Amino acid sequence: MALTIGVDVGGTKIAAGVVDENGEILARTRVPTPADPQWAVDAIAQAVRELKEQYPDVAGVGVGAPGFVDRERSTVIFAPNIAWENEPLRTRIEELTGLGTVVENDANCAAWAEFRFGAAAAYSDMVLITVGTGIGGGIVLDGRLHRGRFGVAGEIGHLNMVPDGLLCGCGGRGCWEQYGSGRALRRYGREKAAADPIHGKRMLELNDDVAETIRGIHITQAAEEGDPLALECYEELADWLGRGMADLAALFDPAVFVLGGGVSDSGSLLLDPVVKAFGKYLTGGAHRPRAEVVLASMGSAAGISGAGDLARV
Ligand code: BGC
Ligand code: NA
Ligand code: ZN
Repeated sequence: MALTIGVDVGGTKIAAGVVDENGEILARTRVPTPADPQWAVDAIAQAVRELKEQYPDVAGVGVGAPGFVDRERSTVIFAPNIAWENEPLRTRIEELTGLGTVVENDANCAAWAEFRFGAAAAYSDMVLITVGTGIGGGIVLDGRLHRGRFGVAGEIGHLNMVPDGLLCGCGGRGCWEQYGSGRALRRYGREKAAADPIHGKRMLELNDDVAETIRGIHITQAAEEGDPLALECYEELADWLGRGMADLAALFDPAVFVLGGGVSDSGSLLLDPVVKAFGKYLTGGAHRPRAEVVLASMGSAAGISGAGDLARV
């Protein structure tokens, strides 16, 4: 099976590409994610058909979806940040495109791509953490994607971190993604700038002096300029990430953690404090071998490439 189509379904856009056996993307397309999940299925199918016209011999489709996917790789059981429940995505895409389809979790796709072609290519045990709207996870053990009995292993964004903590999109409280995601970073910026406008001056300036709508890019820009309060936002985010990673190391003992997702584009701004926090929380800290922590290397291609590759296996 030579060429496949990989699809990465995100909260704001659906990105798709034709993927070869080396994970290279030969052609791409993208469409905005429609608000109604019903239309999202059509938008995915439309993107697939468009690519199929350019490459009529594609052999199948892999769809990476931001939610709990069953072990048969066909149904999105539940998605905390997009309105899908028991969505029979596989059948619907097959009907609409005439191509064999598998559905995978989005972070599993990204993990698989980084493991096969990217930052973790040299390792056989890795955990990928995507830091975006939520926190996604993909776990590769002994060179195999770990799916669990029901297909939903690696749902690390919903680890119970804080008793009676913040309400999560999954309906639970205190989940890790409420503290260690891009959305959490944004909240830290908004709260800190509102509580301390003097030190929040730079972040406020970047958003026309409105604290409530400060976004990630404002915090990142201010932090890059060395603004202490913006750096504190990153420290807080990193502290939560490091704490969770220490637990994941206790469970899986990976060789490497790969940090992906939109927030990882900020590079050492995120990586350095995460490495520090991970060391701080790791049990037995100085007296044990320690997993490496690296940034993802495939950027936004990982989701497409991994979905396409997983369609082959
Ligand atoms: C979902 C995961 C998904 C992650 C990143 C989480 O809220 O539960 O399935 O991988 O967000 O999109
Ligand atoms: Na996952
Ligand atoms: Zn949750």
